Amino acid sequence: MCGIVGYIGKREAAPLLLEGLQRLEYRGYDSAGIAIHSSGTGKSAGLKTAKTKGRVRDLEDRLPKRFAGTTGIAHTRWATHGAPNDENAHPHLDAAEKVAVVHNGIIDNASELRAKLTADGVVFLSETDTEVLSHLIARAQAETLEARIQEALRHVEGTYGIAVLHADFPDRIVVARNGSPVVLGIGEHEMFVASDVAALVSHTRQVVTLDDGEMATIKADDYRTYTTEGSRTSTSPETVEWAAESYDMGGHDTYMHKEIAEQADAVDRVLRGRIDDRFATVHLGGLNLDAREARTMRRVKILGCGSAYHAGMIGAQLIEELARIPADAEPASEFRYRNAVVDPDTLYIAVSQSGETYDTLAAVQELKRKGARVLGVVNVVGSAIARETDGGVYVHAGPEVCVVSTKCFTNTAVAFGLLALHLGRIRDLSVADGKRIIAGLRKLPDQIAEVLRAEGEIEKLAADYAQAKSMMFVGRVRGYPVAREASLKLKEVSYIHAEAYPASELKHGPLALIEPAVPTVAILPDDDLLDKNRATLEEIKARSGRILAVAHQEQEKADHTIVVPRNEVELDPILMGIPLQLLAYHTALALGRDIDKPRNLAKSVTVE
Ligand code: F6R
Repeated sequence: MCGIVGYIGKREAAPLLLEGLQRLEYRGYDSAGIAIHSSGTGKSAGLKTAKTKGRVRDLEDRLPKRFAGTTGIAHTRWATHGAPNDENAHPHLDAAEKVAVVHNGIIDNASELRAKLTADGVVFLSETDTEVLSHLIARAQAETLEARIQEALRHVEGTYGIAVLHADFPDRIVVARNGSPVVLGIGEHEMFVASDVAALVSHTRQVVTLDDGEMATIKADDYRTYTTEGSRTSTSPETVEWAAESYDMGGHDTYMHKEIAEQADAVDRVLRGRIDDRFATVHLGGLNLDAREARTMRRVKILGCGSAYHAGMIGAQLIEELARIPADAEPASEFRYRNAVVDPDTLYIAVSQSGETYDTLAAVQELKRKGARVLGVVNVVGSAIARETDGGVYVHAGPEVCVVSTKCFTNTAVAFGLLALHLGRIRDLSVADGKRIIAGLRKLPDQIAEVLRAEGEIEKLAADYAQAKSMMFVGRVRGYPVAREASLKLKEVSYIHAEAYPASELKHGPLALIEPAVPTVAILPDDDLLDKNRATLEEIKARSGRILAVAHQEQEKADHTIVVPRNEVELDPILMGIPLQLLAYHTALALGRDIDKPRNLAKSVTVE
């Protein structure tokens, strides 16, 4: 949420910064801005800035012709304090225009600091929390830029990933991290800084990820890292796992389409090298949970937000079914605010694609503080949640760029299948059942490919459902998390109102909404609840409701059925969600929505 990028080196900074911003736009896209050390002399020397409401392409259009310089910082925003407009766009400068700051995060005590600075005669030009930082740095008395920033940060409470330019220190960019990601990219006589490797991986795959409380000074030929208190830290570059092409659209019109289409390969990746046929189990290196712990734990509690929470709901069902451990999932945000009882016999699992979601991270930190055992099911290697947890399972979905999650949801559900199987085989799942689940997991990539081949049929359905006033999604037990995720997908990308209910809850109220303009999508796995699910279809039909079923065979009562191949019933939710991702995608396309950047949203929600 909000993307920052910086460059210092031998090349013109502006084009590189704009390219970096394009790659970070998924983090926020309501306004954008850039500041560079101008390479001019005399009057034209110093900091030059350009900023605008809107997208990075709008900034590009607005950039003055003479915007030369080889050092700069830039920002793409998701508004927290102040409306998206030119004034609130970053970078923010001090009155003398010597300091420029870009910031990702929230300064909690901004209004208090603002009041103090205003009383001292500072005039604010924006409504943002960030602007206090520029003024605090400009007023700091220390000799070096680093010490001035440290002095300013001592006044600040909240989260930040910042990059700072100073007109009097043209040989450096200084960055600091507390709660919002900052990565350095180490090149040949040039250095990059960004919120995410996506912005720099086309230039270098050598990166250094800062820890909370860490700062760095980057110059064209070297960098050094130290704490906000000034002690040196030792860091050596790591190589980024994914090549630059993995961040491209790869011939698709949108990232969402690309990421839906990649799912067979992504699932193949999460399974690869983990299955142990001899003992009908899986090996999860890095899980860090021994057999005794796996046998003695009494509960599993899964925490995540949005789609990650929905994948966690599937995970809880899988763990209960295969390992017979009581398990449930809860939104991480709810958990952290309700002062939950932390039980020593419960295994807590945090789920996150980005590994940066603030609510999930805060839940992990609170649990760790209380001595709980917390594992992570995470996509981004080395992310904050991956680092804070005691161990876990990487979901290996690859970079997910579209704001709405698709392939990562599916891979997370599969990763939970592996974890449930692992726990089950340590507990009481039989060899025969272990083999059955392994065979089912192995079938998934081909079956996903088969589901994706029905895209043409789903596209036709979407043209019709795009006219809906609202949509209802229902499922019982295994179908319910699928209904929730499909409903979220549809609303966030098409803006059609949608609700999800357990099928049996319909008659307790929501049936009142059923009418021809409010179609229902029903998820019908072939389990022992199929007859009950069919009875729900009867009830909807009796009230003139239209029905789209997702099932393993045509449903008589449904207006349309999307038929998905049979797997093991426990794994059905994984496959049944995929056609509904396509339904959301094509509905949004039919309505002309901005699919990769839905209104009001951003990926990686790093604020509370
Ligand atoms: C929905 C979506 C969000 C995220 C949620 C958690 O399509 O993408 O609901 O799932 O913000 O994000 P992560 O998984 O990064 O913690």
